[in-house]
Amino acid sequence: MNIIRVSDYTSMSTKARDMVIDRISNFSDMVLAIPTGNTPEMLYSLLVDTYKEEKVSFKDVVTFNLDEYVGISPDNPQSYSYYMKEHLLKHIDIRRNYIPDGLADDLERECAEYEDKIREEGGIDLAIMGIGRNGHIGFNEPGTNFESLTHVVELSEDTIKANARFFPKEEEVPRRAITMGIKTIMNAREVLLLASGKEKAEAIKKAVIGEVTEELPASALQRHKHCTFIIDSDAASLLKNW
Ligand code: F6R
Repeated sequence: MNIIRVSDYTSMSTKARDMVIDRISNFSDMVLAIPTGNTPEMLYSLLVDTYKEEKVSFKDVVTFNLDEYVGISPDNPQSYSYYMKEHLLKHIDIRRNYIPDGLADDLERECAEYEDKIREEGGIDLAIMGIGRNGHIGFNEPGTNFESLTHVVELSEDTIKANARFFPKEEEVPRRAITMGIKTIMNAREVLLLASGKEKAEAIKKAVIGEVTEELPASALQRHKHCTFIIDSDAASLLKNW
């Protein structure tokens, strides 16, 4: 695990932008897994700026969202599909993008087909992600089996509370989601995890120096062969002597 410490959110986003552009420029046919949330917002805006400056093209890039809520439509501004279009996809010349269909009649089949699509696209080259305060990655909550592929999850109370800020009322936060599994993420050729802010410090500490355990999903990444964490000084504040 390669840990890059930076001073703040802006430096984290700039460093991540440089890394993503490096991979897109050096490899043809990149397949990215991409997260939603606050953490990658500036990264996406920097990628869009770089595209508008004609310094990068996404014409050979395929993206897979890490996750999506169950039960809300892609036109709903709270859906991850909507987020991804607004923050990134509608602004760039992306070749193709895939997002799990949270309205599918047969959710199990939707999950299996998502895995099929990842395989058909040649597997994920770079999986970008944030981390939850409880150490989740994607929507893989504590206790998720490390062998899991794309699956339906019940969101934890902590995650529902954290996500309530995006909804008019906490009762409106969906209780289920589709997420890539831990194994789906571990199968990616490279992983990039971003974290900013004090509220992530405990999860980062456990993920980096704690025991590898299903109780802390991000700790699985200690076993990944090519994994980088870019973390700002607040998120790294409990790693002082490491
Ligand atoms: C979102 C996702 C989540 C978030 C995590 C951190 O697609 O997969 O695991 O990355 O909850 O969220 P923020 O960045 O809002 O703190």
